[in-house]
Amino acid sequence: MSHWVPICLVSDIPVLGSRRVAREQGAPVALFRAADDHVFALLDRCPHKGGPLSQGIVFGHSVACPLHNWTIGLADGCARAPDEGCTTPFAVRVERGDKGDQVLLDAQELKTLAVELLATESRAAA
Ligand code: FES
Repeated sequence: MSHWVPICLVSDIPVLGSRRVAREQGAPVALFRAADDHVFALLDRCPHKGGPLSQGIVFGHSVACPLHNWTIGLADGCARAPDEGCTTPFAVRVERGDKGDQVLLDAQELKTLAVELLATESRAAA
């Protein structure tokens, strides 16, 4: 059974922007907010050379990596053709609350998914 952890409000994420969520182990998770207020979560590492997707440009339900401009789908974490590869997507739940819509992530996924992948070092990302 999933245990959902409250992370922030949808309104805490800039429209067409992102917010990083640190984890005890592994690279952070990047939360993205599309123009239609859909919220997505991906490991904050591009499948190409590990660029920080949280610093990319969000358009539609995609993000352009800041390093070499690959387009990554926010729903599946996969690069759009002709590029290939996927980063890890995380399940997101949004619940209505008194103070606004709350974004929640799955505790088990935060603890276990892609924990072997560390945040990108700038040397490796160049
Ligand atoms: S590291 Fe993202 S496109 Fe190269």
